[in-house]
Amino acid sequence: MSVLHIRGGKPLEGELTVQGAKNSVLPILAACLLAGGPVELFNCPRLTDVTAALGILRHLGCQVCQEGHTITVDPSGACDSFISEEQMHSMRSSIIFLGPLLARTGQADLTYPGGCELGARPIDLHLAAIRALGCQVTEDSGGIRCRGRPVGGEVYLTIPSVGATENAMLCAVGASGWTTITNAAREPEIVDLQRFLNTLGARIRGAGSGVITVEGGRPLSGGRYAIMGDRIVAATLLSGVAAAGGHVALKGVDWRHLATVLGVFQQAGCRVNSWEDRVELVREADCPLRAVSEIHTAPYPGFPTDAQAPVMAALCASRGSTWFEENMFDSRYRHVPQLLRMGADITVRGRAALVRGVERLHGAAVAATDLRGGGALAVAALGARGDSVLSGLHHVDRGYECLEETLQQLGADVRRETGDRVPA
Ligand code: EPZ
Repeated sequence: MSVLHIRGGKPLEGELTVQGAKNSVLPILAACLLAGGPVELFNCPRLTDVTAALGILRHLGCQVCQEGHTITVDPSGACDSFISEEQMHSMRSSIIFLGPLLARTGQADLTYPGGCELGARPIDLHLAAIRALGCQVTEDSGGIRCRGRPVGGEVYLTIPSVGATENAMLCAVGASGWTTITNAAREPEIVDLQRFLNTLGARIRGAGSGVITVEGGRPLSGGRYAIMGDRIVAATLLSGVAAAGGHVALKGVDWRHLATVLGVFQQAGCRVNSWEDRVELVREADCPLRAVSEIHTAPYPGFPTDAQAPVMAALCASRGSTWFEENMFDSRYRHVPQLLRMGADITVRGRAALVRGVERLHGAAVAATDLRGGGALAVAALGARGDSVLSGLHHVDRGYECLEETLQQLGADVRRETGDRVPA
């Protein structure tokens, strides 16, 4: 079992380019099934979730090659429309292959993606969108069976679900006629997916707003595309600077994509400067963080649920109390017991968590319980007094590429003791 050894208390200094976005490259990889020729993707993060997505593409008959941060996908040989339970469970968001499979083949046989550490991960909105586009969907104990070529129509989402919006877009691209998606998610990763598909010749408008229109049935070509920077990894690294103190500049990420996180750290007393694709944060070591009164997670452009854990970890050592409200997932405070082991003072009641700031956390042996909870524990360890050991890295490696190397670039005293590390 691999672990990270982190010696806290050392301010972070330096500049780096943030990895490509996990939550953009995954739907874009699924979208490659719609391409009419080879696709070359740049700035792809090396993550275990990406490895799993490439495995599904290969299983479906695509030629896939990954060299460094470049991935090429040739979908011309794709002919299968069945995804096994093992593959569906290999990646939490495997359901994102449903829409493109139907658009390409007119059928899809897969199982439920399964819950995860954040609680149940229902897919009712995904299936409702597919049905709204004219496909038959049969669910039974064995899984999900979809049949029928999609036809353009009206998709009304009752929740601005990121994945359901993406599946509706991908299915609509292969549908005959126009589709309108209302109450669509507005996340930047949706805009990246629209941009990618339009470089292949699709005609999609409105991503980033609540209403997306798709002109379906257009033949798509192959193409080349660079994945956007990962705003949640950026938020995690900035949380580390806030926790440990220091001066860090991050490149390759649009500061507007994490404006609510920057606002929290500005309120907490950090100095924040931002340019087009660069953001920097300064926290003087002798200037403790101030607590922020309330943080409510919400769909974009609200405070991102994925940043809740890392930001909480930074605010554990602050003056005053911060009230968190987690509105997106049922079970997204599993990092709290681990933070308590480090001396944090946090009380959880349902969706609410009250963080009473302490002067400083202390190092401990802690275990990641989910992806962003793992990022949070690394943040806490960076600011803590003494040494910490972070286990459960299989969660962390799903979304943070070589987290130890990234933190070392910023001067952190961290090393990975390799056990059975899963190569990404
Ligand atoms: C995406 O998950 C992200 N994952 C998540 O990031 C992120 O936390 C989430 O969006 C919210 O921003 C990827 O993009 C791969 P949702 P997704 O559908 O699409 C409910 C990370 O750490 N819902 O927007 O699964 C759902 O239960 C991950 O990188 C239904 O009820 O999220 C949740 O409460 C974690 N029925 C809410 O909607 C459905 O059919 C938002 O979920 C679908 C969702």
